[in-house]
Amino acid sequence: MTSITTQDYTIDFNNAGYEALNKHIKKSNYSKIFILADENTNIDCVPHVLANLSADIEYDILEIEPGEEQKNLDICLGLWEALSEYGADRKSLIINIGGGVITDLGGFIASTFKRGIDFINIPTSLLAMVDASIGGKTGIDLGTLKNQIGVINTPELIVVDINFLETLPPLEIRSGLAEMLKHGLIYSEDYFNRCLNIRNLNLEELGGLIHESITIKKNIVDKDPKEQNLRKTLNYGHTLGHAIESYFMETEGKERLLHGEAIAIGMVLANYLSVETLGFSEEKNKSIKNNLKELYGHIEFSNEDLPPIIELLKYDKKNEHGNINFVLLKSIGNPKVDCIVDNELIIKAFNFYSS
Ligand code: GLY
Repeated sequence: MTSITTQDYTIDFNNAGYEALNKHIKKSNYSKIFILADENTNIDCVPHVLANLSADIEYDILEIEPGEEQKNLDICLGLWEALSEYGADRKSLIINIGGGVITDLGGFIASTFKRGIDFINIPTSLLAMVDASIGGKTGIDLGTLKNQIGVINTPELIVVDINFLETLPPLEIRSGLAEMLKHGLIYSEDYFNRCLNIRNLNLEELGGLIHESITIKKNIVDKDPKEQNLRKTLNYGHTLGHAIESYFMETEGKERLLHGEAIAIGMVLANYLSVETLGFSEEKNKSIKNNLKELYGHIEFSNEDLPPIIELLKYDKKNEHGNINFVLLKSIGNPKVDCIVDNELIIKAFNFYSS
């Protein structure tokens, strides 16, 4: 797979990724390397990365528990203190080896420690490969509100090793697939349709689709790295998706949803809103709903669930001047940002999802 070059760094794949990693470390004269991993990736992925590291340089491993709950300020404090205690200086490098929690958190830790040290992302989940690790968004949650605190700061390099997906649980693959489907909806119908058939693919074919997803995201982020306009389209399905994810996280008796599961619902809802406000095809809307519900199953929403979910929309990061700004679609591959939608229509969208 060919290397992808962004404005600030390269994304390299498989063996070529480790070659790029070694080359970068060799030329950079780092004082020490800190590897950030969770309990799972420390067992399943870190040894493989270390086996491919040819540079003779001191390293320490910082391990945290897995899960979205780790993306908080207390964990940051522990990690900043550990860096300080283990002698990290401004010439230290952090290598984030894990899913989106690790790349978001590790990027934030690196961007803030001593006003910023270098970091490299080695995403190990599908979601982190196609989305979280790419584009320089770093940060943590504020309680159950997602990604409220953070900075945009790019890594030195991203190494995507597709082989890590071999041991990834199917539910996690499905979660990452939601972001690939999102890339299809905002950029290319052909890509969307190919992603829908992903269940029958082998690792090599999946690798090709991952490469395409990263290229779609890179093309958007390169044009608008600070999310002034075009990059907002990458939040398709996320306005309601994030609110649903937070609501399920904080509500007793609700089972937590994986990010991609919540985003899949968010995309069905956004498609309905797109039909009602921008004339998106009704036929495609129904067929996408059926396909996504077949893939992700049906989640029940009661009438009591909707007001608190709508209330959570006020924390969306795209809000401006008190307006909740949705990304909607005129057609597949043709998104429109900053769309304002009535709460009544949002409730109708949930009814459509449930029907
Ligand atoms: N995940 C959306 C973005 O990186 O802009």
